[in-house]
Amino acid sequence: MNITSQTGIVGLLGHPVSHSKSPEIMNAALQQLELPYVYVACDVEPTELAQVVARLRACKWRGWNVTIPHKVNIIPYLDRLDASAAEIGAVNTVVNQAGELVGYNTDGAGYVRSLTEENNLLLSEQRVVIIGAGGAARAVGYALATAGVKQITVINRTLAKAEELAHHLSQWTQTSATAILNAQREVEVATLVINTTSVGMSPHIDVTPINPMWLQPHHIVSDLVYHPRHTALLQGAQTRGAVTHTGLGMLLHQAAIAFELWFHQPAPIQLMRRVLENSLK
Ligand code: ATR
Repeated sequence: MNITSQTGIVGLLGHPVSHSKSPEIMNAALQQLELPYVYVACDVEPTELAQVVARLRACKWRGWNVTIPHKVNIIPYLDRLDASAAEIGAVNTVVNQAGELVGYNTDGAGYVRSLTEENNLLLSEQRVVIIGAGGAARAVGYALATAGVKQITVINRTLAKAEELAHHLSQWTQTSATAILNAQREVEVATLVINTTSVGMSPHIDVTPINPMWLQPHHIVSDLVYHPRHTALLQGAQTRGAVTHTGLGMLLHQAAIAFELWFHQPAPIQLMRRVLENSLK
């Protein structure tokens, strides 16, 4: 690409960032649409975050993605939060709106977009079980609740954290909390079961967050873990006749929504999916 004095910058702040697929996906999208921007990944130590945000503001970066460990800690350095970031309590995308740094969270909306694109389902009729009660569960729960889901059960190893998230989600839905060990009945009566924990992630690929024998053909089973793409939970679900939904779609769509926030045009999603799939091979 032709970098000139007019070329703008977007990017990623995280620590580490060397594993990130975002530069490949985003730069392919920018080139396809001939947008005069480059996307760069910056490895930022937690102690340097305030200084880096001030520099990016001064350099007028169009925006950036934020990943571990800065998603919560970046909040004090921004000017304003969109409702998604305020409710989730974490930022994964910053947009420079005429000098004002606005924090968004596109993880939950990316999840919902991927789920509804890949499955023919009516959100208002789903009985949802969310496994886990951390940041990812909060993002997915908030997005589902505000997209029309009426019933959610949060199940978690630490019951107190499930109760806290259930309390938060009960602003929008009927939500209850259960410990994982007692969750068989909740899972059996659910229609959509979502793993938001890291259980099953490489290299510990043989473990599942719940007993797959609880799953049945009426379930859609969704796993946010995308490495491996077909986790032990999804393999178990498939064996039991359930429909499966991998974590790749959320990864893709949270990036596409960030792209749309920066550039006010649809992201080239097919190209981005191809690049992502190739980079994970
Ligand atoms: P993230 O931002 O990715 O959601 P997090 O906020 O650290 O990460 O949350 C991780 C979630 O996965 C938590 O709900 C955690 O359970 P606890 O609240 O009991 O810590 C859950 N989790 C992580 N490892 C787990 C394991 N081996 N078994 C069961 N749950 C696990």
